[in-house]
Amino acid sequence: MTERSYVEVNDLRRVFDVSKPWLNRVLEGGEKQYLKAVDGVSFNIAKGETFALVGESGSGKSTVARMVVGLLPPTSGEVIIDGISMSSRAALAERQRLRRRIQMIFQDPYASLNPRWQVDQIVAEPIRAFGLIDGEKDIAGRVGELLSFVGLHPADGKKYPHEFSGGQRQRIAIARALASNAEFIVCDEPTSALDVSVQAQILNLMRDLQDRLGLTYLFISHNLAVVRHMASRIGVMYLGRIVEISNGRELFSRPKHPYTRMLLDAVPDVGMTGRQRIPVSGEIPNPISPPSGCTFNPRCPFANERCVAEVPPLLGGVACHAIHEGRLGIDAAA
Ligand SMILES: Nc1ncnc2c1ncn2[C@@H]1O[C@H](COP(=O)(O)OP(=O)(O)OP(=O)(O)O)[C@@H](O)[C@H]1O
Ligand code: SF4
Ligand SMILES: [Mg+2]
Repeated sequence: MTERSYVEVNDLRRVFDVSKPWLNRVLEGGEKQYLKAVDGVSFNIAKGETFALVGESGSGKSTVARMVVGLLPPTSGEVIIDGISMSSRAALAERQRLRRRIQMIFQDPYASLNPRWQVDQIVAEPIRAFGLIDGEKDIAGRVGELLSFVGLHPADGKKYPHEFSGGQRQRIAIARALASNAEFIVCDEPTSALDVSVQAQILNLMRDLQDRLGLTYLFISHNLAVVRHMASRIGVMYLGRIVEISNGRELFSRPKHPYTRMLLDAVPDVGMTGRQRIPVSGEIPNPISPPSGCTFNPRCPFANERCVAEVPPLLGGVACHAIHEGRLGIDAAA
């Protein structure tokens, strides 16, 4: 690839020390314990594209999101946004300029909005913090414009977050994210706490804003139907790794990895007719002591000795020995 992607995530890893306190370890004789929350994740996002990460709870999606926006330092690996490395110390000033262009939207909009501030103060805060507009009148004008942008009324600026519904609060959070003229928005389960009908409105608003403003999204969800609606490319995560990465259409019509098939089979309305279904079985293992080899092997109906011994590399967009060996067909409908 000669042309650089807007977002490049290279071999990102994050280990958490989850040991008991030192004194307990001395008295009880325990070892230090480490949890690999993210274990070598790589992906690219083109400008104006939506890339989604999907996977069960605990697969490492939020940890990736926090590292991508710079809220959490990686143990190793690199995030490059518009050619600027988020981790190089030399480029501090450049990184600070980049901060303005990257925003994050969380699952619980109420927790991310200051309850004591009026909505117009909340939305104006990034404008003031980054010194984007001078003069109170112009700031107020811009805040009114942003509120209209997300489907609220400029007069709503005089209210407090608790006076709004969950969906409206997420609109406020989006207006605040846009206030800094953000280009890249990381959305971590942005609609998971909302009613289904409201979810659709917020997702449509996000798509509409993307078209109008050319936004780039990293979209995180455990919900495949939501991801299908939003993303052009999707990475499926399992225990800290991407096990399959492909464009949305292909992932839903010809899923390769047994875990992806299992996830799709759990959702009746996005299932593929005619294909043999893999029943959902087992639970995600304890990430402190993950299974050897392919970490999906205890749940996989196609596992053999090699799967227990060797970690499958991500080749051709899928990390599965059975697919690489041709033991498992890609189009299981055939
Ligand atoms: N600060 C932390 N300290 C220790 N362990 C952590 C920390 N943050 C996350 N983890 C662990 O890392 C793993 C990945 O967590 P993460 O929150 O990234 O998953 P997720 O895919 O976002 O899950 P969910 O769908 O529940 O939000 C989990 O096992 C979690 O317990
Ligand atoms: S590598 Fe083996 S255990 Fe892992 S998904 Fe493929 S067949 Fe199943
Ligand atoms: Mg999460």
